[in-house]
Amino acid sequence: MKFVQYYLDCLSQASYLIGDETTGHAAVVDPRRDVQDYLDDAAASGLSIDYVIETHVHADFLSGHLELAAATGAAIVYGEAADVHFAHRKVADGERIQLGQVGLEFRATPGHTPESVCIVVWESPGAEAPYGVLTGDTLFIGDVGRPDLQGGQGLSPEVMARQLYRSLHTSLLTLPDATRVYPAHGAGSACGKNLSTEKASTIGEQRRSNYALRLDTAEDFVAAVTEGQPPQPGYFARVAELTVCTSRSASCGTGWASSIRPARSSRTAPAATGPPSRPACSAPRASPTCPTSSAAIRRGWRRDYQTVLGRPQ
Ligand SMILES: [Fe+2]
Repeated sequence: MKFVQYYLDCLSQASYLIGDETTGHAAVVDPRRDVQDYLDDAAASGLSIDYVIETHVHADFLSGHLELAAATGAAIVYGEAADVHFAHRKVADGERIQLGQVGLEFRATPGHTPESVCIVVWESPGAEAPYGVLTGDTLFIGDVGRPDLQGGQGLSPEVMARQLYRSLHTSLLTLPDATRVYPAHGAGSACGKNLSTEKASTIGEQRRSNYALRLDTAEDFVAAVTEGQPPQPGYFARVAELTVCTSRSASCGTGWASSIRPARSSRTAPAATGPPSRPACSAPRASPTCPTSSAAIRRGWRRDYQTVLGRPQ
């Protein structure tokens, strides 16, 4: 099995390439808009990207699902509850997608958003235990996804937090302790309040050390995860809207064409403007053109995001 984690420091964002090198089938999970790395790595390993899978509708960065699907012809995959405006395949709780010998088992895990899914990775049909699980924004290293964002679609943070508690305890935490955990974000992300700098863990390690998993009751959990969250950056609502659009064109959604400043804004507000070329923040962290994650988010907070992302009409 080919398994690669791509970590974009300036967005504190992780994406994944998973494939079966014997049969040449592969999927990419939560891609960024600069899709060339996935294309290059897949080609080098003789893999065809058949699926682009989104663990949920992202609000903190504009995902590259449309760009990667256009480049490969891959099907875009979302959880059953997703409400997006382009062709996609919905997957139900327990459903599997096979990449040759490699199996992707989907688990519906609402809480951070209603359509959130986690993806259990099986190396082969006969494997006794899963290789790992891609937890999206449901479970981070040291934290869980915040339940109070735009993606809640009007449901209260308390309702979402209760769903999240159920998803964690009736689904994710039933996996064996040795299961590797691969989240969609790390430290610096505004999607939680206590994210670790580690980029992978195990279910057992999180069961022991993650504050949110050690709370005894649903009531304690709801109280803990709904308090002390950082303010939601203003651009989140607009990014979530753009993420479900059919294209990056001016006419998409509420119309955002009029005033875009692509070159500079593509690195000051998380990857949501301009053409789908390589964003400045895909440069190495040491580059002066690539702000750290917290710096990027602070700038995004301060900017007039409607000007940066296109003003709704
Ligand atoms: Fe998220």
